[in-house]
Amino acid sequence: MKTTISVIKADIGSLAGHHIVHPDTMAAANKVLASAKEQGIILDYYITHVGDDLQLIMTHTRGELDTKVHETAWNAFKEAAKVAKDLGLYAAGQDLLSDSFSGNVRGLGPGVAEMEIEERASEPIAIFMADKTEPGAYNLPLYKMFADPFNTPGLVIDPTMHGGFKFEVLDVYQGEAVMLSAPQEIYDLLALIGTPARYVIRRVYRNEDNLLAAVVSIERLNLIAGKYVGKDDPVMIVRLQHGLPALGEALEAFAFPHLVPGWMRGSHYGPLMPVSQRDAKATRFDGPPRLLGLGFNVKNGRLVGPTDLFDDPAFDETRRLANIVADYMRRHGPFMPHRLEPTEMEYTTLPLILEKLKDRFKKESDVYKAKESIYAKEESQGHD
Ligand code: F6R
Ligand code: MG
Repeated sequence: MKTTISVIKADIGSLAGHHIVHPDTMAAANKVLASAKEQGIILDYYITHVGDDLQLIMTHTRGELDTKVHETAWNAFKEAAKVAKDLGLYAAGQDLLSDSFSGNVRGLGPGVAEMEIEERASEPIAIFMADKTEPGAYNLPLYKMFADPFNTPGLVIDPTMHGGFKFEVLDVYQGEAVMLSAPQEIYDLLALIGTPARYVIRRVYRNEDNLLAAVVSIERLNLIAGKYVGKDDPVMIVRLQHGLPALGEALEAFAFPHLVPGWMRGSHYGPLMPVSQRDAKATRFDGPPRLLGLGFNVKNGRLVGPTDLFDDPAFDETRRLANIVADYMRRHGPFMPHRLEPTEMEYTTLPLILEKLKDRFKKESDVYKAKESIYAKEESQGHD
């Protein structure tokens, strides 16, 4: 039996700003998923949230992009959005971009990470969910997990990992993907994924046997083909242990709170702060960008767990550093590199400002020409 793990998320409205999902909306989604489980559409599920994103973690045997499973998620979001509207929550229904469902949720607003797997005897997985950032935020930690022996000693000392991993990298501007293998091609890989707004790691496979090891949600990005449509708070599924990164190696990749784009108005760099479920909300300056990690075992499609992976003093120093970095970045105010470059900003008044000021801009060459003609006049008068 093959099991599919589907993590589907959407922002359907939030309490007091864009900062946290309301429990009643989760309860509404729960009803829909409970009924889908009863009908046998899904085998198991877990509902959670990070910041303003409602997260549906589901297992089933129907494969990726399955109509029934996606319809279930869509209906859960619709029901949750109805409650959000009744409660007057902020931005109710925000990510539900269409009125009607059309086979799967791609292009309709929600984000999706799915993998169909042959369950191993024991199948430990981690699900990472971030708010106030975008899928390229996982480039650096994925590289560390699957290609950097300073993070993942298993790459050196575990014979089952020694063959390395390959990365499927999507060029979101061109809408095309390339497969690059580590360690053989790490310089080429880094040359691309070091530009995370353009080149996004979508999947990771084990070189030796093509085993699918990690999947990132890139739904909205995948569709833009050259057009900027805003940030998409990303989710990721990572398989663990026994020839794959150990849980601790996967988590170690987040011990450094690297800078990611997003944060306030999707237009600022800030540190990615790993937090417990209790702290999975966006407060200071609508952030800083938060990361929730849940660990499960998947057994015959059953989700055993979760465990709240960053609910741990071992990540206190990461959070402390993230707070220091947040202070440091904030002190730049509206200046880059805290503020994103214009093409990456979710909000920008720049075109309006440029339009308003267009008649007040003076050509530098005209200023010099004027000075030159004054000089020429004076010179000619001097010669008289
Ligand atoms: C960014 C985000 C928030 C909002 C901000 C302004 O992804 O969700 O930072 O952009 O709170 O929201 P509006 O424009 O809805 O008032
Ligand atoms: Mg969000």
